[in-house]
Amino acid sequence: MRKDASSMSMDFPNCRQLTHCNMNSVVWKLVLLALILFALKTVILHPFPGFWWIQQKGIHWTAASTTPAFQSSVRKDKFLEVPQIAWGLNNQKIAFARACLTARLLNRTLLMPSLSASLFYKEVELLEAVAFDKIFQFERFNTMCNGFIRLGRYSDLLNQAKPFELQKGSGRKWTKEKDLHQLEQCKEDSVDKFELIQIVGKNPFLWHDHWPVTDYAKIFECMSFVEEIEEEAVKVISKIREVGAKARSESFAHDHTSGSLIQSVPYIAVHMRVEKDWMIHCKKLEQRLNINQICSNKTEITERVAKISVLQKPIVVYLAVADSLLEDNSILSGWHQGLLPFEKKKLGVWDIYKKYPYLVQSAIDYEVCLRADVFIGNSYSTFSSLIVLERTLKLIKIGVARSCGRDARLPSYAYNIVGKDGGPQSWMTDFSASNLQSISYGTNNVSCESKVLQSKWK
Ligand SMILES: *[C@@H]1O[C@H](CO)[C@@H](O)[C@H](O)[C@H]1NC(C)=O
Ligand SMILES: *[C@@H]1O[C@H](CO)[C@@H](O)[C@H](O)[C@H]1NC(C)=O
Ligand SMILES: *[C@@H]1O[C@H](CO)[C@@H](O)[C@H](O)[C@H]1NC(C)=O
Repeated sequence: MRKDASSMSMDFPNCRQLTHCNMNSVVWKLVLLALILFALKTVILHPFPGFWWIQQKGIHWTAASTTPAFQSSVRKDKFLEVPQIAWGLNNQKIAFARACLTARLLNRTLLMPSLSASLFYKEVELLEAVAFDKIFQFERFNTMCNGFIRLGRYSDLLNQAKPFELQKGSGRKWTKEKDLHQLEQCKEDSVDKFELIQIVGKNPFLWHDHWPVTDYAKIFECMSFVEEIEEEAVKVISKIREVGAKARSESFAHDHTSGSLIQSVPYIAVHMRVEKDWMIHCKKLEQRLNINQICSNKTEITERVAKISVLQKPIVVYLAVADSLLEDNSILSGWHQGLLPFEKKKLGVWDIYKKYPYLVQSAIDYEVCLRADVFIGNSYSTFSSLIVLERTLKLIKIGVARSCGRDARLPSYAYNIVGKDGGPQSWMTDFSASNLQSISYGTNNVSCESKVLQSKWK
């Protein structure tokens, strides 16, 4: 909950247009109070499914720690439909958020889009459409994003009249300005009168971006995996901590971690991208961008990770790797003493993963990395970038805007960039960026400062 009503209005663009906002009248305060009480009631009477936490050096991971109180409303009788969303889990999250922000611009409810359960880049018919609410909690999304973004179901459509079909432009000549102009035109009566605007063409990940990182972050905050996925992630994390506890008790005879203490045994997660496909992709990217900070081989990664000295060893290093590497035992070798590398198979949790399609497997790994005591990824990976974004958000909320130095809390690092001490560069998301470019396509400009005022999120 936001603490103070007067600071609330700053975040709400619509409020600025309403002269009432500034009148500061008693009536307005009463309305606000009623709204807050209503929101509280919703939270108390309907605890979100999957509400759980793991204590982590004083940081609580809660599925619903805050309910942003956006004050305006999104129209419930006008809808936007977008093409099927595809590619990696986090490309899909970004594409979904971009579709949401487009719907918001048009003040329309976004019809729940289809995601893709499998990872085929070209053959659209192999993408296995899966409904948004099979992966993310639908009701919780609307509760959390209430007044900012609204998701609807196809059954909400009243009439089956022909939709307005909007073809997004493409090619070099289709600039960001043209794209925005086209969207603005859809707000005019001749288009706005349609109940449904149907955008056809490219996956929203490829649309032009018109929004600051903070807008995306607000949407990511409203997205929680369904309970089943969260439960599977908890099982994997428990297994990691169990293995860590065992190693500790073997190293220190007096240290018998048991029961609830196991839940506080720390672990490191490394999102390690060294599979062939990635190596080909990253080498090309390095050539095109004329830098050599994108690809890191296994030796470089293990050497850099060994230089992180924040945690007591022995400690488990969970390797979030592509399936193709699960057969390759060499990724488990070469780690320095005290760093105990495990992937899904060695950990004995492959059975949990293999029941699911690509998208869910990736979601479980995402949660395991998100909740790790230390996370190390590649700053050119969308997967790594969104994990760091969410970890940074957590830190900002507890008042930490810098994670530099040895006593950093919930530290994240980019292994592809060498930091001052020869280790991986310490990494926090730059929340001041005016678009998502650096997060969706990657950057070598990472630092341990989030460059945002905490008050923005209070
Ligand atoms: C959307 O439309 C509703 C109803 O007309 C209005 O109250 C609200 O302020 C609008 N929201 C935005 C973001 O323009
Ligand atoms: C890994 O990269 C380093 C530095 O670029 C290089 O010296 C080394 O030979 C590479 N190792 C392998 C196994 O490719
Ligand atoms: C790196 O990021 C900072 C702050 O976000 C920015 O001021 C600076 O221009 C960036 N540097 C490069 C080379 O992009």
